[in-house]
Amino acid sequence: MAKEPVRVLVTGAAGQIGYALVPMIARGVMLGPDQPVILHMLDIPPAAEALNGVKMELVDAAFPLLKGVVATTDVVEACTGVSIAVMVGGFPRKEGMERKDVMSKNVAIYKSQASALESYAAANCKVLVVANPANTNALILKEFAPSISEKNITCLTRLDHNRALGQVSERLNVPVSDVKNVIIWGNHSSTQYPDVNHATVKTPAGEKPVRELVANDEWLHGEFITTVQQRGAAIIKARKLSSALSAASSACDHIRDWVLGTPEGTWVSMGVYSDGSYNVPAGLIYSFPVTCCNGVWTIVQGLPIDHLSRKKLDLTAEELTEEKALAYSCLS
Ligand code: NAD
Ligand code: LMR
Repeated sequence: MAKEPVRVLVTGAAGQIGYALVPMIARGVMLGPDQPVILHMLDIPPAAEALNGVKMELVDAAFPLLKGVVATTDVVEACTGVSIAVMVGGFPRKEGMERKDVMSKNVAIYKSQASALESYAAANCKVLVVANPANTNALILKEFAPSISEKNITCLTRLDHNRALGQVSERLNVPVSDVKNVIIWGNHSSTQYPDVNHATVKTPAGEKPVRELVANDEWLHGEFITTVQQRGAAIIKARKLSSALSAASSACDHIRDWVLGTPEGTWVSMGVYSDGSYNVPAGLIYSFPVTCCNGVWTIVQGLPIDHLSRKKLDLTAEELTEEKALAYSCLS
């Protein structure tokens, strides 16, 4: 029997991530090749004409899974009945800026859109915040939508996770699909900690630790970490625009694994509400290794954390605590 369509909201849908993301959703990349969707696209009035152009292109592409398109500048209409909300709307940073430099503009958006989601989205709507500063925007959304479960509000660090997989794959000259279980800890910012201590590579002789195969601690402790931390800035420098296709693809990975489950023996990184695991302060949206089953994420427990890693986990938590205070000062 054909499945009922799922309503998926994309805010900032006239922007560059939106333009890459909506066709992926309409093709089944996010929710699967047998799941029909109705796209809800929100943008602000100055972008209304462009948004309508995106809607025209979606119609022209004749996606079999796409059962309807709502293109609107009305946040209530956009949020009504959605089961998945991908929050991309906001302002991207430009060359030379840190992600938190777009804080004051973007957190205000997340405060106001929290109430619309809370009042009009479907019960149990899953929310993914992409716009920067992603962790703190998600935290503000959570705090101003108290009736949405904390289990349902997340932010995107899957792009960083995928970047880490990509770096290991290039270094070892192995297919990226053979690398797994890297971890991004903390903030989607340059303080994030890309950790390969538990990552493995599939080889003809079974799974081998990345540390054993790379055998170059200098690279793993240095260039690997800084490349992943700075990749967003490197893309901005090269494209004069921030990442879009990789962000859109990673947003699909994040929601797909959350809804459909992570493969056996594999974890992914998601920005989720901290419960104090790994001695990360509770009450931050912090990126952890998670597994997902039946639409619920669970933080992977019990991984040994060495001294160097501990310092890096704490540093990025400190930045998130500062960002939280800064966000509240922007809203007051
Ligand atoms: P963009 O400027 O091309 O598009 C953003 C869109 O949001 C625009 O169309 C704008 O009109 C719209 N918008 C602004 N205010 C809005 C509001 N109140 N409601 C709805 N829409 C609104 O930017 P982009 O390149 O698509 O990036 C979007 C955001 O995603 C930025 O904040 C960027 O920094 C962030 N980003 C995050 C990641 C990540 O991994 N977490 C990766 C890439 C980009
Ligand atoms: C990224 O990581 O590519 C995005 O967060 C955009 C940025 O500002 O770096």
